[in-house]
Amino acid sequence: MARIVLTGVRRIGRVIGVHLLREGHDLVVIYRTSRDAGEALREEGRVLGRRVDLVQADLAQPGEGERAAVEARQGGPVQGLVHLASPYRRVRFGEVKGRDLLDHFYAIAGSLVEMIQVFREDVNPGEARVQFHAVVFGDWAVDTSPYPDYLPYFLAKGALHAAVRALAKEMAPWGVVNAIAPGPVWRPSDLPESAWEKVLRMTPLRREVSLEDLAAMTRLLLSTTAITGEVIRMDGGRHLAGSGLRSD
Ligand SMILES: NC(=O)c1ccc[n+]([C@@H]2O[C@H](COP(=O)([O-])OP(=O)(O)OC[C@H]3O[C@@H](n4cnc5c(N)ncnc54)[C@H](OP(=O)(O)O)[C@@H]3O)[C@@H](O)[C@H]2O)c1
Repeated sequence: MARIVLTGVRRIGRVIGVHLLREGHDLVVIYRTSRDAGEALREEGRVLGRRVDLVQADLAQPGEGERAAVEARQGGPVQGLVHLASPYRRVRFGEVKGRDLLDHFYAIAGSLVEMIQVFREDVNPGEARVQFHAVVFGDWAVDTSPYPDYLPYFLAKGALHAAVRALAKEMAPWGVVNAIAPGPVWRPSDLPESAWEKVLRMTPLRREVSLEDLAAMTRLLLSTTAITGEVIRMDGGRHLAGSGLRSD
């Protein structure tokens, strides 16, 4: 049993949170607007006899990751972080502003560094064992074939993948840091069904990445003492098919 901080609980994060509670963990949910999802996890935790604390934060603001992490630690030491918080905004190339770049960077990558620096304080360097696990959610397309109109998102997810490797070194030998890079899991609300079906047709395994697979990988990465600094693609083979161009 561990006390795990979970960010980004609107959709996939909420399902992961239920799995974590059923595995016997306590949670600290960091939400921005989805208090209802946090409350639902708290209710699920109450039924299971698990504790769920809620912390509100806008992680796009520099310093908010640190503040939220300090608040999370007030309820007890933290042994794990699952970081899914991420904007996913379409911004046409030519119209990208500094604010778009900063918002994506801090919510996705900068806040991760801030949070892990705080959680490092719960690590006892005198004990030669892994005491902290972080799992972050990247994106399959970043390292192979980013698609148009999402440059701030891809830049930030690229920084997140780089941060995983750098933080894995910083946290060793007491902490491990890994990423899951999903392919298509859950249709973005602004993407028409027909476009989503096209994405799935381009995915060799012809289906969405299952939430059960993501939860199982999260469980493994929250307990491993062998894997660190890895970005693990879970994309149904999507990278094998390329991303397509705007004219598709
Ligand atoms: N859906 C997919 O098929 C897919 C594919 C590849 C990768 N992923 C990755 O998987 C993760 C979860 O995806 P999803 O589809 O479940 O995401 P989602 O429904 O779009 O939810 C995004 C979450 O990020 C949080 N968030 C965004 N900006 C924030 C900020 N400034 N401060 C704090 N929290 C912020 C939101 O919090 P609030 O709701 O509280 O505002 C929300 O819970 C993301 O990292 C995403 O990039 C998803």
